[in-house]
Amino acid sequence: MKNIILFADPGIDDSLAIIYALLNPKIKILAIVSSYGNVTKEQATDNIAYLLKLAGRTDIPIIGGTNIPSSGETPRHYPEIHGEEGLGPIRPPEDVKGELTNFSDLYNIIRENQDITVVDVGRNTSLASLFQLGENVSGIIKEFFLMGGAFMVPGNVTPSAEANFYGDPIASQLVLTNLDNIFVVPLNVTNRAIITMEHIKMIQEMTDNPVIQIMDEVMEYYIEAYKKLIPGMSGAPLHDVLTLFLMVNPDMGRTIRREINILTSNDGRGTSIADFRVSSKPSEKNINIFLDFNYQGFIEDFIKVMSSSENS
Ligand code: BDR
Ligand code: CA
Repeated sequence: MKNIILFADPGIDDSLAIIYALLNPKIKILAIVSSYGNVTKEQATDNIAYLLKLAGRTDIPIIGGTNIPSSGETPRHYPEIHGEEGLGPIRPPEDVKGELTNFSDLYNIIRENQDITVVDVGRNTSLASLFQLGENVSGIIKEFFLMGGAFMVPGNVTPSAEANFYGDPIASQLVLTNLDNIFVVPLNVTNRAIITMEHIKMIQEMTDNPVIQIMDEVMEYYIEAYKKLIPGMSGAPLHDVLTLFLMVNPDMGRTIRREINILTSNDGRGTSIADFRVSSKPSEKNINIFLDFNYQGFIEDFIKVMSSSENS
């Protein structure tokens, strides 16, 4: 069982990742940190609250993360991919409003629990703040899984940058420089974590869990959005779900240990760089980049976890 603190910006694939974590018997969510990213922090918070309500898990604290990136600029959101409110066509009911727990409570959660894994599937601003505001969390937290970066493949927001590292490259660089035991799950693997409507329908037929019943409308929107970007695509990539899958099933992926640098300005902003030359050396710190994963294993696990009716 992995004790996780999940940093997220739901967002469609973040929402599916939250549901996957709630239903996965190998994962215990200690808290969810809500931040700006795919949508505003306020919207992300209401979306998290709605998912937790549908899943009957309102006991999980939602921690208030950051509203804007380290640069102070106004963040760009992505309604064309995730919908105006972040859940495709679905809008959380008016009476569902997320109540935020103060960011400082994260330190109590970290102190009171053992063997914590941090999973950040959004912009890294809140995680950087956790490090900047507090004691040496890197020494206390066992490992960090980050969805971010693009190695040897094009980016998804610029020719070379992936959205999470692009959103706050200063924070991403701070995290990669100061923390240890980091596992980065980049676009070169997540682009291939494709889920189709057939998978979703199959799951929905196996369970009447209310949190699964909203999945078809949400995924239809996401898949249509991806079709506009990549005509002919049969499904859409669940970047954030793959990150959680590899966190609990590391043997299903292949990694390389390398230092990572993020460009922080101008045209290269958000670009992730690692040295993959034959002559290059492993990083001094334990920083690992996923290069490949077992797609069939991912699909089978996704269907099994999402169709189980038990919350973990
Ligand atoms: C990442 O950016 C967001 O749009 C997704 O939720 C994912 O975390 C993919 O680049
Ligand atoms: Ca995300």
